[in-house]
Amino acid sequence: MPEIRLPITTERLVLRRFNGGDLDAFHAYHSLPDTARFLPGPAKTYTQSMERVGRYANFVFEKEGDWVALAIEAAERPGLLGEVVLKWLPGEGQAEVGWTLAPAARGKGYGTEAADAVLSLGFEELGLHRIEARLDELNHASAALCSRLGMRLEARHIDKWRYKGQWATELVYAILAAEWRIGAARSRYARPLRIRFQ
Ligand SMILES: CC(C)(COP(=O)(O)OP(=O)(O)OC[C@H]1O[C@@H](n2cnc3c(N)ncnc32)[C@H](O)[C@@H]1OP(=O)(O)O)[C@@H](O)C(=O)NCCC(=O)NCCS
Repeated sequence: MPEIRLPITTERLVLRRFNGGDLDAFHAYHSLPDTARFLPGPAKTYTQSMERVGRYANFVFEKEGDWVALAIEAAERPGLLGEVVLKWLPGEGQAEVGWTLAPAARGKGYGTEAADAVLSLGFEELGLHRIEARLDELNHASAALCSRLGMRLEARHIDKWRYKGQWATELVYAILAAEWRIGAARSRYARPLRIRFQ
């Protein structure tokens, strides 16, 4: 895998490696039941947040199962807004994208902007072929984000997961490199500068 050059800058955001200074802001949104509602575990304890920020800060992307984990902050105003992650899946050129924003950072398009930059990283820099997102059917905000990214709804798996005391239906969205390039070319026409690696 090629080296991942960070930070990545977009129109409004900087995507960078996590560091220890992100812990309190990370814990502030990951300790909320609202944030955890559609994530695998319960709201995080401080210890769990410490462990996660440590893993994110030290991520390596060298083999299947590894993650790229990027802290999202506004270019004009430092401070953690959320995270976007890319997981290397088994099979050639396959990965999964995921996202979480602090409540105050939602509703501004930051999640879409950050995830679009990660799709660009995956397809343009890492040479991936297909990126998917898996979500609970009730997570309408995440499904809308997938649609904004141009991802296709590929599958609906009824009662695929049991978590938070109930069965959940899983939606699988995906996008291929070729599909992303068509969408990127369209929006490049509208917005000349998409992202910049440093
Ligand atoms: C999933 C999650 C990241 C989506 O956040 P979001 O704010 O809805 O998504 P975006 O950041 O892309 O913002 C889109 C919203 O901003 C609005 N918006 C404002 N300015 C915008 C802009 N310049 N560009 C795009 N959208 C913009 C959009 O209209 C949309 O609002 P709407 O939902 O009322 O239509 C967020 O709900 C979250 O963190 N949830 C908890 C964790 C979670 O469930 N993670 C996913 C597990 S699968």
